[in-house]
Amino acid sequence: MSDSMNVLLTGGTGFLGEYLLVELLDRGHKVWAHYRSESRKLDTIRFLSGLGLPRSAEALKWFKGGILEADDQWGQWVEEYPGIDEVDTLLHSAASTRLHMDEHGEPLKTNLGSTITLRKLIDRIPLKVHVISTAYVCGLVQGKLVKEVNHPRGDFVNVYEESKWEAEQLWIDKATILRPGIIVGHSETGRCTSFSGYYILFQAAHLLDRLMGDAEGLDRLNLNIDIPANPDGVTNVVPVDYVAKAVVSVMERPECHKKIYHITHPAPPTHEWTLSQVCRRFKVGGLRFAGAGAPFTQPRNRIERMVWRQMQTILLHFANNPVFDRSNTDRAIGDLAVPPVTSSFVDKIVDYGIEKEWGQAGL
Ligand SMILES: NC(=O)c1ccc[n+]([C@@H]2O[C@H](COP(=O)([O-])OP(=O)(O)OC[C@H]3O[C@@H](n4cnc5c(N)ncnc54)[C@H](OP(=O)(O)O)[C@@H]3O)[C@@H](O)[C@H]2O)c1
Repeated sequence: MSDSMNVLLTGGTGFLGEYLLVELLDRGHKVWAHYRSESRKLDTIRFLSGLGLPRSAEALKWFKGGILEADDQWGQWVEEYPGIDEVDTLLHSAASTRLHMDEHGEPLKTNLGSTITLRKLIDRIPLKVHVISTAYVCGLVQGKLVKEVNHPRGDFVNVYEESKWEAEQLWIDKATILRPGIIVGHSETGRCTSFSGYYILFQAAHLLDRLMGDAEGLDRLNLNIDIPANPDGVTNVVPVDYVAKAVVSVMERPECHKKIYHITHPAPPTHEWTLSQVCRRFKVGGLRFAGAGAPFTQPRNRIERMVWRQMQTILLHFANNPVFDRSNTDRAIGDLAVPPVTSSFVDKIVDYGIEKEWGQAGL
């Protein structure tokens, strides 16, 4: 176990970042947290103080500045923020989680840009580096075991995965690479501030539920839709509190550094199970898996078209079926229990999503 760390954290105002802060502060580490917007910083401060954190003014300090120019800005930060040069560890969690390229060049701009500049900075000021990547850097995989190794360039489902893979290439052998599965809400409270990934599925079903309303002539328990995917495939969802605990536990063990870890669920839900949860929760039926690559059934009327439009959002989630090996993770932190994904957990995270209007109602 390491001594207390003095951590420079990027992305501390994000969904995972807030829980990384909780874990670091709760375990007595010091943190310099980067932020971009005052309102996001205030939200995070409010969230932390609700948990009685930080316990001293010394434990958490904030700094602002372009993380994409970190190497150029370091000298200025050292002048502006006395003590920041005492950090001994970098935990890089900031990222753009946009799946597809936007007009500003995101997610590539942030995900690769931050890596290039932080890599340069690390050449000048040696820090222990831990990087949050994603288990899905493997690209499209059907049911095969994905090892905790540097993957060759894969068949990426989106630019986000590609940007995270490109970033990993610059860190291999120089940093610990932590690859979470799809992160979902807190195992006890359901709290979440980023409703992407698994949530899109429930969000689409929720919208469909509202669109169907009392539509005449619609038998919602018999929608008669074949989904071209494999029912036994799995979606690797993992609660945010487990991810944060796992990341900080690995950071605290120097003998575990500079390796690759799948911070994934050892017993993830199958697509069949997830679909049964969607049907149960939103009282719909007649959605069946027809196997990967099965032909689409063309919608025959307005209602079926409406159902299909929502289903297409959902389909992407069922397309990729990797199974993640956790040998390194189990060796390092196998004693850390992973909260199970149960019906009541799904209800908890869906209730939370609906209460927060899937992030539209302010967090
Ligand atoms: N969510 C998932 O399912 C999932 C799964 C696997 C891996 N991950 C990885 O986990 C990490 C955290 O993701 P998350 O879900 O917590 O995302 P998030 O809620 O969107 O948080 C992203 C964080 O990065 C910061 N950020 C984004 N662009 C930035 C830039 N150009 N400069 C400086 N900071 C920037 C954001 O700052 P603001 O608060 O100012 O916007 C925020 O603090 C990421 O590396 C992501 O790739 C996420």
